[in-house]
Amino acid sequence: MLKKIILIQLALLFLCLTNCNSKPAALKAVYKKDFLIGNVINHVYMSGGHFDLLKKHFNTVTCENEMKPENLAPLSKSGEYKWQMADSMVNKMKENGIQVHGHTLIWHSQTRTWMTSGSPQEAKENMINHINTVLDHFRGKVVSWDVVNEAMADGITDPSDWKSCLRAESGWYKTLGPDYVELAFRTARQADPEIILYYNDYGLNDCNKAAAVRNMVKDINDRYKAEGNNRSLIDGIGMQGHYGLWLNVNDVRASLEMFKETGVEISITELDIESRLTNSREWGVNRNTVMPQEQAQQQAKLYAQLFRLFREYKDTIARVTFWGMDDKNSWKSIGNPCLFDGELNPKPAFFAVSNPDEY
Ligand code: G3I
Repeated sequence: MLKKIILIQLALLFLCLTNCNSKPAALKAVYKKDFLIGNVINHVYMSGGHFDLLKKHFNTVTCENEMKPENLAPLSKSGEYKWQMADSMVNKMKENGIQVHGHTLIWHSQTRTWMTSGSPQEAKENMINHINTVLDHFRGKVVSWDVVNEAMADGITDPSDWKSCLRAESGWYKTLGPDYVELAFRTARQADPEIILYYNDYGLNDCNKAAAVRNMVKDINDRYKAEGNNRSLIDGIGMQGHYGLWLNVNDVRASLEMFKETGVEISITELDIESRLTNSREWGVNRNTVMPQEQAQQQAKLYAQLFRLFREYKDTIARVTFWGMDDKNSWKSIGNPCLFDGELNPKPAFFAVSNPDEY
């Protein structure tokens, strides 16, 4: 009799384990009523186990590098644009019913130097040509774009005059001054009125940086509407979300509250939580390790806290996109920041996001 009971219990345990392993909840289903759930794509994620996970869990993607100016724009001004890499990815997403967000049009980094050089008139023409060319090419295939990325400086102490908070070392700022931000948005709006235009930045859990962004969005949108336009010029704010175990979730809440005041939509655009306690700038793929249980649990708890918060703001948040599928292929692999480990096994962080109320 005892043998029989033990056998039944073992069978039940086996069933439960295989069921849990083979059928973890699809994240896009878990958050169906709240917001879109996304991830980055790069060449590694386009096939095999990575692509299976992508199709299963995510309904929106962002190209990690392939739509950045240096990957699309020619080496010299007279050269040809290169569409092949981005096109093959965008087409594959379309075939699989996955929405694409564009990243990014105007940035101080990963941009050809010729684009921002020359006279202000030349740089202005280069900006307008780049935005028109890219938006025209992806018309109808990409629903929203990071029009300007990371324009704010680090270490802002007084956010009241947003123009004085801009990153002065940006090539665009050097040639065109602070008005380059608005020029980029006006150009994008004209080039394709159908798409949703985002300002995207990191470190927006910092209240001063967040306030500078809020002031900029409000100023640009107020003036645009005062011209008789019945919509905003900047449609959305992207909070990147490159966090670590140091994060105070209340800071994220304060920024969400601040951005909500502007009336634009918010997206969490590049979410990852690195689990190192030091914040050194060691980046790159293939440096992941097996996480100690305690760290994995701390990371999971923080992911759960964030997703509970995001759900509270579901009426304002349009999309939450992770910046990496697995710890091995993450840009910050040394911090093991993703939901899946290097072998694509779901981590406690995955189960925390699947069911944040349980953590
Ligand atoms: O593809 C080359 C490879 O051929 C070469 O051997 C190797 C040697 O370093 O470099 C490879 O290119 C790297 C590329 O990622 C692809 O892995 C670049 O060096 C490296 O700089 C590049 O890093 C990207 C980084 O942006 C560049 O700024 C990361 O993948 C990408 O995740 C990261 O994404 C940014 C967002 O665009 C904006 N917000 C911050 C976020 C994280 O830094």
